[in-house]
Amino acid sequence: MKVNVLTLFPDMFTPLQVSMLGRGLEDGKWDLNLVNFRDFTTDVHHHVDDSPYGGGAGMVLQIMPIKKALDSLPSKGKVIITAPQGKTFNEKMAQDWAKEEELTFICGHYEGFDQRVYDLADETVSIGDYVLTGGELPTMSMIDATVRLLPGILGNSASSVEESFSHGLLEYPQYTRPADFEGQKVPDVLTSGNHQKIAEWRHKEALRATYLHRPDMLENRQLTKEERNWLKEFEQN
Ligand code: ADE
Repeated sequence: MKVNVLTLFPDMFTPLQVSMLGRGLEDGKWDLNLVNFRDFTTDVHHHVDDSPYGGGAGMVLQIMPIKKALDSLPSKGKVIITAPQGKTFNEKMAQDWAKEEELTFICGHYEGFDQRVYDLADETVSIGDYVLTGGELPTMSMIDATVRLLPGILGNSASSVEESFSHGLLEYPQYTRPADFEGQKVPDVLTSGNHQKIAEWRHKEALRATYLHRPDMLENRQLTKEERNWLKEFEQN
């Protein structure tokens, strides 16, 4: 997958270039192309913004440098603008985007875009109901969530399938050594060696965690008989 990012702060993007995603870049599993749209300004001061028509405080990011930066790309794939008014990003979107060959993100900073910039994108996407100083952190979150789903990025290919959200439940609790930490013991079933019992326990505890922390995730779930019984049990406690 190729990922283009139009930003005024390409230096902010180091988190995507270390650890698993960094190794993926080195191995050619994905490609990151950072484009500073300030490089596409034509005035001597390299302005990317101007005062708003109609007056008012603040500045507005101009369309021209962004359009020129976009046009400089040999190809763009799906174009995404990060902004608080967009639809909220989720795991399903990451899964859909992971099937694309190319993605292009447009990041604003401090100030809003000229309204016409939104027409350059296929989607406007937010990471939640709070306002950040720029689109760089949201873009990095979305790229991380998407690229980690690509083949060969995570060490153990099963680990992206088994975990939270991918099967509609939160993750079950995990433990490692020591078996007893200051009196807090690991559940006996996990050291029993009985794989069927362990799988059942994990399923139940994933359901419990979801029931306790994200009951909204259960609203549209087709529950099995076993899950319905477990839920009754949780409700009684
Ligand atoms: N830019 C500023 N705040 C944002 C948010 N919450 N999501 C996406 N982009 C943003």
